[in-house]
Amino acid sequence: MKPVALLVALAPLLATAAQEPSLKHWLTTFGSSFNNLTDCSSCQTLVGDLKDVADFGESFLVEVLGDLCSETGAEPSDVCVGIMARGGPSTYHSLKNMKLGSHTANTFCANLFQYCEPDARPYDLSFPSPKPSTSRPPPSGQPPIEVVHFSDTHVDLSYETGSNWNCSKPICCRSYTKEDAPGNTSHPAGPWGNTNCDPPQRLHEDMLDAIADMNPAFSIYTGDVAAHDYWLVDKAEVLRNFNHTYEPIEKTLGIVYSALGNHDSAPAFQFPSDDINVPSQYNPQWAYEALAKDWFALTGIISVKSAREHGSYSAIHPDSNNKLRIISYNSILYYKNNFWAYTEPIEFDPDDQLHWLINELQEAEDENQRVWLISHIPTGNSDHFRDHSHYLDRIIQRYEATIAALFFGHTHKDEFQVSYSASNFTDRNWDTATAMGYIAPSLTPTSGSPSFRVYQIDPVTYGVMDYTQYIANISDPSYQTKPKWTPYYSAKENYGSKLSPPVAADDTGVELTPAFWHNVTEAMENDPSVFQDYWNKRTRGFDVSTCVGSCASNEICGLRGADTSNSCYQAPHDPGAMFSKRDEAGPVSLSSESFQEPECDHSEAASLFAKMAHRVRLMKRNGKLNF
Ligand SMILES: *[C@@H]1O[C@H](CO)[C@@H](O)[C@H](O)[C@H]1NC(C)=O
Ligand SMILES: *[C@@H]1O[C@H](CO)[C@@H](O)[C@H](O)[C@H]1NC(C)=O
Ligand SMILES: *[C@@H]1O[C@H](CO)[C@@H](O)[C@H](O)[C@H]1NC(C)=O
Ligand SMILES: *[C@@H]1O[C@H](CO)[C@@H](O)[C@H](O)[C@H]1NC(C)=O
Ligand SMILES: *[C@@H]1O[C@H](CO)[C@@H](O)[C@H](O)[C@H]1NC(C)=O
Ligand SMILES: *[C@@H]1O[C@H](CO)[C@@H](O)[C@H](O)[C@H]1NC(C)=O
Ligand SMILES: *[C@@H]1O[C@H](CO)[C@@H](O)[C@H](O)[C@H]1NC(C)=O
Repeated sequence: MKPVALLVALAPLLATAAQEPSLKHWLTTFGSSFNNLTDCSSCQTLVGDLKDVADFGESFLVEVLGDLCSETGAEPSDVCVGIMARGGPSTYHSLKNMKLGSHTANTFCANLFQYCEPDARPYDLSFPSPKPSTSRPPPSGQPPIEVVHFSDTHVDLSYETGSNWNCSKPICCRSYTKEDAPGNTSHPAGPWGNTNCDPPQRLHEDMLDAIADMNPAFSIYTGDVAAHDYWLVDKAEVLRNFNHTYEPIEKTLGIVYSALGNHDSAPAFQFPSDDINVPSQYNPQWAYEALAKDWFALTGIISVKSAREHGSYSAIHPDSNNKLRIISYNSILYYKNNFWAYTEPIEFDPDDQLHWLINELQEAEDENQRVWLISHIPTGNSDHFRDHSHYLDRIIQRYEATIAALFFGHTHKDEFQVSYSASNFTDRNWDTATAMGYIAPSLTPTSGSPSFRVYQIDPVTYGVMDYTQYIANISDPSYQTKPKWTPYYSAKENYGSKLSPPVAADDTGVELTPAFWHNVTEAMENDPSVFQDYWNKRTRGFDVSTCVGSCASNEICGLRGADTSNSCYQAPHDPGAMFSKRDEAGPVSLSSESFQEPECDHSEAASLFAKMAHRVRLMKRNGKLNF
């Protein structure tokens, strides 16, 4: 070997040798700064440390964070490496530009560790016309139409019947190793899915058949096509997933309105706005364009009014006499794990989407239409940037008479959120409740049985008169032979009787208004059994944790928290204490009253920080921190 070739061959080794002490140094520093994380100022210290590492370059940041992830056992090391390779570039970009103590840094700390919660920055949305004095139209009294809502399908194309469902990765039922393969494992997965796994393709198709049997007027699908293998996923896999999910939808169902999920690109979760200059391999335009093709095919192209190909569109429902406008917007621009979004300063209106939304709503108001807003991440969810939650709320308040309802997914759970005209937290009441956001549970069975929902819709006002939640009970012994899709509960029947005055299940003239749902939250406050019933249904009876005291009041507050500025979210004492079941089974028992993080959050890039912090603290307490 020539000397030059030898040097080239040795270069990686030499480089590693040169960096070894500093890697160790950084692990020690982070061990200490994660362990010190108790308030906003210690979070700023941590941001400073992260920035210092970023100063050595992107690959060094990726290496240090990857090592920290492995060393703390936050995830298996291949998962750590995969997450950092994918989330590293956007994390690096943000940290490089972030100013300590800025609104961006505070938002970063708040989203990742629940410290430094900043108020939303004022932003003048400038509406084209003043708010009219009109209010929600009363129900028409016409017989309702049925609309189906399904969400978070996450089909895993590598799902294998007979493979190990009890693996060490974030999702199982794949042959990661020979030991996981069918025939070699003592935990073989059934053909129709498992609560530790994303669904097999056949479950998705079976659900679509069950929906088609109901012959709905149309359907909505609030996104998340790709599986949870976010440490492995690439563009080719996402495109294959789009095809395998949308082709059967097209074949089986009529008109479907869809929304973009945080998993619907690669790298997962990373959706830079047009104004951020990213290397072309991180531009999600290919995903937007592929989805736009599928989406427009499903709406009957004629009805699409405004196709932005930025994960959003607006359509006039063809059978509505020009009376129903459906607006699907891209909530991932405001997603806490979208690291490109931590710009300095944070963009007020990435991709000008808010202004597009205002124009669409104004047009709808002018044309006397009703609007459904559909999107993936609920505006009030803790995964949502607070600034944009507040801006969206201002838009919703301005157009409250036009917006019939909002529809979301993302949490995998059966939840809802109420919006209020009152800016004063304490004035949120039935007569200030202005808008209702329905959060439909998932097909994916990792936090409850596979499900979809059927709404009864007023064919004139497009208000929600009732809904019936359907599930295929995954705990039922016959499930693995063939899932049975059965009604689980109906909203009016289940909650109406608990109100005073009660709303009768057969009172078909009553809309499920925002006031109705506010009254449900009051019934929860007045009678713990009403809350417990909701809490059980939230996960379809699966893995129900105890939720009383501050856990219950936080959850009720969350239901009233469509604007997260109004949220009563309280920081857990231990950052990351809200992490997964697997983590909680660890050596230190964690507070049972810790706030539940959304399912989708589990160990994804941003949450990985909180998880590492949590693990560091566990190790420290157990005397196992050896770096
Ligand atoms: C952590 O806190 C201790 C005690 O307050 C302090 O001595 C140490 O410098 C802190 N470490 C970091 C990395 O901030
Ligand atoms: C799953 O695997 C873990 C670790 O190997 C083991 O401790 C646990 O008992 C297994 N669970 C079941 C239900 O067999
Ligand atoms: C099962 O394990 C054996 C022994 O490791 C291996 O030879 C075989 O290929 C495995 N089976 C599968 C289907 O991977
Ligand atoms: C998806 O389907 C389209 C149209 O059927 C086809 O052209 C394309 O090659 C498919 N892509 C993948 C990744 O399967
Ligand atoms: C909110 O309302 C409560 C009770 O009506 C009142 O005591 C409080 O001062 C109000 N707060 C603000 C900021 O207006
Ligand atoms: C699902 O099936 C299990 C086992 O038969 C049963 O205990 C449970 O009550 C069922 N859940 C629902 C929501 O029907
Ligand atoms: C909500 O409750 C109030 C009384 O607290 C009642 O006046 C109002 O009619 C109720 N609204 C609905 C829709 O149930």
